Amino acid sequence: MLLWSSLVPKDTSISEMRRKDLMRPPQVFVYPGFITEAEGRSLVEEAGRRLKRRRFENGHWDSVITGYREIEFSTPDDQYPQQGLDIENGATVPPYVKAIQRTRSHLENHHFNSRGDCADAFSNNIRWLPCHAIDLSANGELKPHVDSVKFSGKVVAGISLLSDAIMRLRPSAKEWESEEKDTNHSAVLGASDRYVDLYLPKLSLYVLSGMSRYSFTHELLPSNTTFEYMEKKCMLCQHEDKGAEVVEKNGCENKSIDVLRGRRLSIIFRDAKKV
Ligand code: OGA
Ligand code: MN
Repeated sequence: MLLWSSLVPKDTSISEMRRKDLMRPPQVFVYPGFITEAEGRSLVEEAGRRLKRRRFENGHWDSVITGYREIEFSTPDDQYPQQGLDIENGATVPPYVKAIQRTRSHLENHHFNSRGDCADAFSNNIRWLPCHAIDLSANGELKPHVDSVKFSGKVVAGISLLSDAIMRLRPSAKEWESEEKDTNHSAVLGASDRYVDLYLPKLSLYVLSGMSRYSFTHELLPSNTTFEYMEKKCMLCQHEDKGAEVVEKNGCENKSIDVLRGRRLSIIFRDAKKV
């Protein structure tokens, strides 16, 4: 699967120090095509059914999110976590339930295991909060914020449905304060120049943990914005006698994707904060 390394933004998007912080060990991930078309359809249908009677909300003038509907998207697993796949007593488990189970297992196995980005939390103690489904209209906005640290734990992950989007991560205000004391980076680049963008195609899963969960805000860019990235050219083409520098120089190409964001449905995963 395509990971962060293939989505490294342009150098100017974030200071080298910050980018390294996010990458070693990786603390932000995008898995394109994580959800199958059938699972995606099932999630959209089920969320649509449950959202039907909800009105779109515009929020207050200072709201983080506008033009949206949101519901807690619980599955039988939230009530009977031990029973797992047997829950429906032999009846076919709907694809949307399977998709949620599969996503949670993936997060437990790859992001909470002993080598993962949340290394101190082992998969057997994870308690999942019920998922949330967020239906964001084409003109809806999701402004920069850090998810509550009161109830929600170390990982925030999301499945993107209905349309592609760009998520922007920026160092949060608290980070700026400490950074300004430590270095003079901020004198060179203004705060608005420092960000990391994630391209979130339909059916992808993104995972924020560590720095990207706690020390960066996340937001969704409006429609008609451009995702800029560097594509690494075929690494196998390099000759063994050429050094890494040559590969860096010749092996990257600036690319961009124009993203028209229509209506977006996202399914958000959070683990419960440990008490
Ligand atoms: C949130 C959030 C992002 C998304 O609900 O806190 O950041 O992908 N959502 O919808
Ligand atoms: Mn959020």
